[in-house]
Amino acid sequence: MIELSERIQVADWKKEKHVPVIECPDQVASDEVFEVKVSLGKEIAHPNTTEHHISWISLYFQPEGEKFTHQVGHFEFTAHGESTAGPNQGPVYTNHAVVASLKVNAPGTLYALAFCNIHGLWQSGKEITLS
Ligand SMILES: [Fe+2]
Repeated sequence: MIELSERIQVADWKKEKHVPVIECPDQVASDEVFEVKVSLGKEIAHPNTTEHHISWISLYFQPEGEKFTHQVGHFEFTAHGESTAGPNQGPVYTNHAVVASLKVNAPGTLYALAFCNIHGLWQSGKEITLS
């Protein structure tokens, strides 16, 4: 059996539209709230249609040297032009970008996991240090 972790795809976000882009300071102060923006398609736009869209993004924090990964938040994008009139006839499309607000008291790595309803799971990571 192939492990689920082997199904999670990784690439350069500048060349692959599915890779989550994590934007936050490289260095943060311990126990001080900061913001992390996670989006997709910063360089190459990902479609946002009823048939093809990003369903969700999860953000995690892995403290340096610790065994377990902590979930920071899970963000679902639930409107993609659905309508009784048909696909892509609806009035609203949730854009696949989110800003999370958090604080940490240890250095570590932020991980983002995104799910495309057609192309599956994609991940990226960004290290943060404490000032
Ligand atoms: Fe896709």
